[in-house]
Amino acid sequence: MLGNFTFCNPTKLYFGKDALSGLEEELPKYGKRVLLVYGGGSIKRNGIYDKVTAILKECGKEIFEDGGVMPNPTTEKLAEGVGRAKAAKADFILAVGGGSVCDYAKAVSVSVYCEEDPWEKYYLRFEEPSCKILPVGCVLTMVGTGSEMNGGSVITNHAQKLKIGKVFGPEVFPKFSVLDPEFTFTLPHYQMVAGFFDIMSHILEQYLSGEDDNTSDYLSEGLMRSLIHSSRIAVKDPQNYEARSNIMWTATWALNTLIACGKSTDWEVHMLGQAVGAHTDATHGMTLSAVSLPYYKHIMPYGLAKFKRFAVNVWGVDAAGKSDEQVANEGLSAMESWMKELGLAMNISQLGATEEMIPGLVESTLIMQGGYKVLTKEEIAEIFRASL
Ligand code: NZQ
Ligand code: ZN
Repeated sequence: MLGNFTFCNPTKLYFGKDALSGLEEELPKYGKRVLLVYGGGSIKRNGIYDKVTAILKECGKEIFEDGGVMPNPTTEKLAEGVGRAKAAKADFILAVGGGSVCDYAKAVSVSVYCEEDPWEKYYLRFEEPSCKILPVGCVLTMVGTGSEMNGGSVITNHAQKLKIGKVFGPEVFPKFSVLDPEFTFTLPHYQMVAGFFDIMSHILEQYLSGEDDNTSDYLSEGLMRSLIHSSRIAVKDPQNYEARSNIMWTATWALNTLIACGKSTDWEVHMLGQAVGAHTDATHGMTLSAVSLPYYKHIMPYGLAKFKRFAVNVWGVDAAGKSDEQVANEGLSAMESWMKELGLAMNISQLGATEEMIPGLVESTLIMQGGYKVLTKEEIAEIFRASL
């Protein structure tokens, strides 16, 4: 059964080879003073910066730069960005980059006029903004997070060893996003496949929860099958437009609130992964791949029927003559082979985590309520030990 829900996704998308021309249509709707937010310099090397600034100038905008957004953006960088946006008296924020840049732009947008400490208000107390919010637009260059069409904004506080995602409402979603699959062609292999697993994990977090028959789970199965198919092509042929464009579109639908409609969701893998990220600053998708199999093996007995369905409908496991456990295990083995084919991190040691870190990792892991088993701290420690 589908539970009650409200669906509202106000982000307008421009998709395809000419998507950047969407900026010419969108920018005139906003004020003159634009804060141009970007990461560590990939957009300068691959020419996207030049294309974007040319359009901003053509549209008569005054550009104020805020570069240097790091992967896993920090509270310190957020404070710097707020200072820059205030000094610029920015009317609009244009984020050009991956999930980190888009997440950060949203965090700045709700913090410029916020009278309290944004980390405490939004990320520790999970409150909603009560101040003016600057509008944000995105030009996406890395596929995975879904940040281009959602209200998610993940910030890391290294002093507190916490990496926390706040999910803002539709008023904080990007007003528009530009999705040109060719902009992702320059991604290094490591980042590309980390993004692929991030997509898979987003779908699994929403799919592997609840037992009810609902449309959302059928949509999830289709998205996963498309991702598995296209990712196998993309790892061998990264410039394959068909595969990369399908993956880009899958990533957006994997986390734009659609497939969570009317059902429960888990998100424990992200909590485990974010704890690893808070302690090691490792790449987001890799933190998820490193903990996923130990977690899923641990909770499988509590959600056996769904794990069996996952094996059959997503991985094509033949269930004839096999026990439910066997089928479910074959599904996870098929996923493991696919993960190895992509070249993902398969344990947290590869990411710099050590046995001694485990008590700290446990403390940094939020415990969610929507999965097949609500974890105890001892179980979390066990999962981290199995992930070493
Ligand atoms: O900084 P630059 O130089 O641009 O390099 C980036 C960065 O080093 C590089 N890159 C991006 N596009 C490129 C490129 N390199 C070459 N060519 C291109 N076209 O890739 C590196 C990683 O970028 P980043 O933005 O950090 O990756 P991703 O998109 O995976 O974002 C990760 C952040 O998003 C959060 C994660 O926790 C993490 O902080 N998430 C956000 C979510 C949301 N908004 O809903 C949900 C996710 O679960 C996730 O937690
Ligand atoms: Zn993720």
